[in-house]
Amino acid sequence: MRRQSQLAEALADARRRTDELFTLLVPDAFYDRPIPERHRNIFYLGHLEAFDWNLICRRTLDLPSFHPEFDKLFEFGIDPPAGRLPEDQPKDWPSVDEVKRYNTHVRQAVSRALTSGDVPEQLWRVAIEHRLMHAETFAYMLHNLPADRKIEPPGVAARILGPPVSRAMIEVPAGGATLGRRRGNGFGWDNEFDEHTVDVPAFAIDNYKVTNGDYLEFVKAGADPPHFWVRRGDEWLQRTMFGHAPLPLTWPVYVTQQLASSYAAWIGKSLPTEPQFHRAAYLPALTPAFTPTRTPARTPDPTSRDCKERFPDAGNYNFDHWNPVPVNAHAPGQMLGNGWEWTSTVFQPFPGFEPFPFYPGYSANFFDGDHYVLKGASARTAACFLRPSFRNWFRPDYPYVYAGFRCVEN
Ligand SMILES: [Fe+2]
Repeated sequence: MRRQSQLAEALADARRRTDELFTLLVPDAFYDRPIPERHRNIFYLGHLEAFDWNLICRRTLDLPSFHPEFDKLFEFGIDPPAGRLPEDQPKDWPSVDEVKRYNTHVRQAVSRALTSGDVPEQLWRVAIEHRLMHAETFAYMLHNLPADRKIEPPGVAARILGPPVSRAMIEVPAGGATLGRRRGNGFGWDNEFDEHTVDVPAFAIDNYKVTNGDYLEFVKAGADPPHFWVRRGDEWLQRTMFGHAPLPLTWPVYVTQQLASSYAAWIGKSLPTEPQFHRAAYLPALTPAFTPTRTPARTPDPTSRDCKERFPDAGNYNFDHWNPVPVNAHAPGQMLGNGWEWTSTVFQPFPGFEPFPFYPGYSANFFDGDHYVLKGASARTAACFLRPSFRNWFRPDYPYVYAGFRCVEN
């Protein structure tokens, strides 16, 4: 019973997160397509409920479909290879009211399924985390809608200023990095299994993420600007969630993996591998310079409910802000939050990988050598994804992710 009410609460919380995003749209923006490689906004309104319906009610409980056309239309998102963009038109999609009616019906059925206790907890976790992932990826999409297509909620002030960033490389001694997750030890997605240890030679890593200010030097030397920058006259501006701002030099630069790799090579360094990120982020205090000073322990569990209350320095994640904060707003040892971090590791299965039988394509569809692992979290990442085993992945030229990087010396 207790478990059931926890799941109900987590599902309600995840729904609040995604419902909030749709309230930011002006009414006719449901048919806009903010990112050319993705569906129109209306797809996401139907997708979140269609996913729950298909997984929980249709496939698990074998309930008869009340709207087979929508179950299929809203089933899957898209990730087309370069040069192959979707061509559908607004008139190809149903009305917002029709989709909302479908959603109401699904939520009622899903609530009944939850009360029945007939659905394994693993599937509820999949539904909840799937929705929370979209709470972030749909925020990337809305970021790319022009400001006049969105309604800015009250109290959004981008935190632009901060003291200058003092740069240092932190030495990480050789040792083992434990990746993945032990089976039977709580929920994880298929690609998080199995747990295994990798030997990592000694290396040094940036104390803070690379900033807009750092990257500006690279652009002045002729490099491509990030998608998150906009040129106005002689000036660079930052695309923030609700408009453009003068380029905040101490914010992490959000760039593609390709641009991040080029920058690292330009200064004679590299991107970290996935095991290197683990060594740096999850080891106990590496050096006094890499230990949060305001927290009694270096690694309070960032996924715990009260982490933010107990550790004000815990980082910019769990929907804290709509934008990044300066890289030095939190102590240098706090690697999680304020932007995912690109690695040089191609997304591949861990030894012992088995796809979920009820969602076989979740990871396996992306083991194509053209997706790279990201670790960490952004301001719009739910706390549960800060567990060490969680892996995110995108194409190396996908420019819309809240993702930056730091460099390593090997
Ligand atoms: Fe999805």
